[in-house]
Amino acid sequence: MTSGQARGGGDAPIGIFDSGVGGLTVARAVSAMLPRESILYIGDTARSPYGPKPIADVRRYALEVLDTLVDEGVKMLVIACNTASAAMLRDARERYDVPVVEVIGPAVRTAMSTTRNGRIGVIGTEGTIGSGAYQDMLEVNERLTVFARACPRFVEFVERGVTDTPEVLAVAEEYLAPLRDAGVDTLVLGCTHYPFLEGAISYVMGPDVSLVSSDTETAKDVYRQLVSRDLLAGHGAVPTHVYEATGASADDFLDLAHRLMGREVSTVRLVQTGAIDLPR
Ligand code: DGL
Repeated sequence: MTSGQARGGGDAPIGIFDSGVGGLTVARAVSAMLPRESILYIGDTARSPYGPKPIADVRRYALEVLDTLVDEGVKMLVIACNTASAAMLRDARERYDVPVVEVIGPAVRTAMSTTRNGRIGVIGTEGTIGSGAYQDMLEVNERLTVFARACPRFVEFVERGVTDTPEVLAVAEEYLAPLRDAGVDTLVLGCTHYPFLEGAISYVMGPDVSLVSSDTETAKDVYRQLVSRDLLAGHGAVPTHVYEATGASADDFLDLAHRLMGREVSTVRLVQTGAIDLPR
């Protein structure tokens, strides 16, 4: 267990962590469902993207950031990053006293209850798909057939703020045609960035395929856990939303956040987590 554990009571913030800006989709879903809750968000921009990195490195980075959030007194940890969730699903729950919510379990449960024909597609980063985390959880149910595909260029598009060009549609067609042709009726968007590409993904997959997005499903899990553990913010609570980034520039984080989400994020402060070592 780490230091600083379980300091956070009901009015302490929910700690949300992602490799960068993409996890703001989860933060947005959490604050839409739980407007009285305070949020402390850390984007590990110094070492993002996590998707192409060895899973052992991702695990180490993620634990450093989560330790920092716990030391800052959060009452709950939300691992908004799919690649990080895949890398450390079990470890985080054993390591911390505060409840830990990750993004894979909630999306898997929703996909299982959504599919009618038992054919489920999963898309994510190379790290997430390579880890087999989604596939393992879904295939516990023997009646399901899972078709998984890494879509690394999707993250690049979103990071450039490009979501609706012919190039995006062409790449989406290339990645997703095999899943569509395999007859999946449910597609899990297993990456923080993919909700920004939902238009293109839905266009390619067609109107009969249900898209399961980890942001809203995770927010529902956060809601459930706060209620069941009696950790909701008190009635008079005044929520604060604080955004931190580990990278060299708070402005870069802010620029991209504004391009993707509008003006919701107003200031970003820089933070050091553990012994930050920059990517090789
Ligand atoms: N946050 C990552 C995820 O959800 C995508 C971006 C990255 O590769 O760091 O998998």
